[in-house]
Order: sequence, then C-alpha cells, then structure tokens
Amino acid sequence: MSYYLPETVDCNGELFEIFITKEQLEARLLLLGKTLDKKFDGKKPIFIGVLNGAFIFLADLMRYVSIPCEVDFMKLSSYGDEKVSSGQVTSLKEIDAKVKNRHVILVEDIIDTGLSMKYLVDKIKGYEPESVSVITLLHKKEATVHDVQVDYVGFEIPNKFVLGYGLDYAQEGRNLGQIYVLKD
Ligand code: PRP
Repeated sequence: MSYYLPETVDCNGELFEIFITKEQLEARLLLLGKTLDKKFDGKKPIFIGVLNGAFIFLADLMRYVSIPCEVDFMKLSSYGDEKVSSGQVTSLKEIDAKVKNRHVILVEDIIDTGLSMKYLVDKIKGYEPESVSVITLLHKKEATVHDVQVDYVGFEIPNKFVLGYGLDYAQEGRNLGQIYVLKD
C-alpha cells in the first residue's frame, strides 16, 4: 500500500513540513500495542476513539493489539475550523456501548489544552466503568491547562500546529500518512 507522504504540504494556504515520519509512527505504535497487550490482558478493554481526529491512530493502534478488545466512538468538537481552541466542548455523538464495569481506553489524536479529554473522562466516569485510561498519539504538555491524567503517550511535542495522520487544518490534511508541522 502506498500512503500520501509528500516532503511539504500546502494546506488551505499554509505551508507544512515533515515532523514525525511514517516509520517513527509505526515503531511507536508497535510498542504501544505491546504495552496495552500486557496491561489489559484478560480485561477485554473497550477503546473509545474521539472523532474525527483519532480515527486513523485508533485504526492503526488496534491492529497492533492482540488481546480481545472492542471499539466505539464519541464525537467532540472544540476547534471548529480554527487553529486555536474555542474553549468550549460540544458533544456531537455519544457512545452506543454500555461501559459500566468495563475497562475503557479513551483514544485521542492530540491533547492540547486538555479541555476535550477532561470533558470526556468526566463524562465516561459517570457511566461507572471499572477503569478509565487515556492514550493520545500526541501530547502538547506545555499547552495543557486542564488537569487530566494521560496514561500512554505516543509523542510529547512542542506547542506547534501539527497536521496529518487524522489531524486537520480546516478539515483538510487528515489523509496525510505522517505528521507535519506548520513551517516557521
Ligand atoms: C482536536 C483533537 C482533540 C482536541 C484536543 O479536536 O482531535 O479532540 O482538539 O484539543 P484540547 O486538548 O485543547 O481539547 P477538534 O475539536 O479539532 O475536532 P476534530 O477531532 O474533528 O479535528
């Protein structure tokens, strides 16, 4: 299979360059999959992906996991089409699965201010799961202002605007096969 992996990208009039390569992503996901296999062995966790951004990370991550597991999705929106969070989370799609007494793994493409994940953790805890864990592909630690426990991280990144592998700029660029960063 050949992915879309250009050297630079013009997305909605902004120029982006390669930041995390496909090879780096694959190596990290392999390790994350092994970690989850060990941690959740015998627990049949349910992954809950946050649409839209997490759809590619979750799809790839699940294929590195070999224990029995399930999947469902929430849809949140806090950014609209802007590069900066609106500060408000809207729930656009709820989960269908019953997660009471289950081991839930919340899956994000990126934790920025932490607003979305804090909202989600609080919401899921209300359904009385056995446990709630958080995994994110990217974590902007220095941008995080909302207190949220992040259990598994793909890459800690600086406070820069990133694109690709599910992450968008005004809804475009999600199809890029690796992560790009806005050029200075
Ligand atoms: C992005 C991302 C996270 C959230 C992270 O979603 O997918 O859900 O922002 O930012 P935060 O930590 O400041 O809350 P967005 O609202 O852009 O929607 P999308 O997933 O459809 O791109």
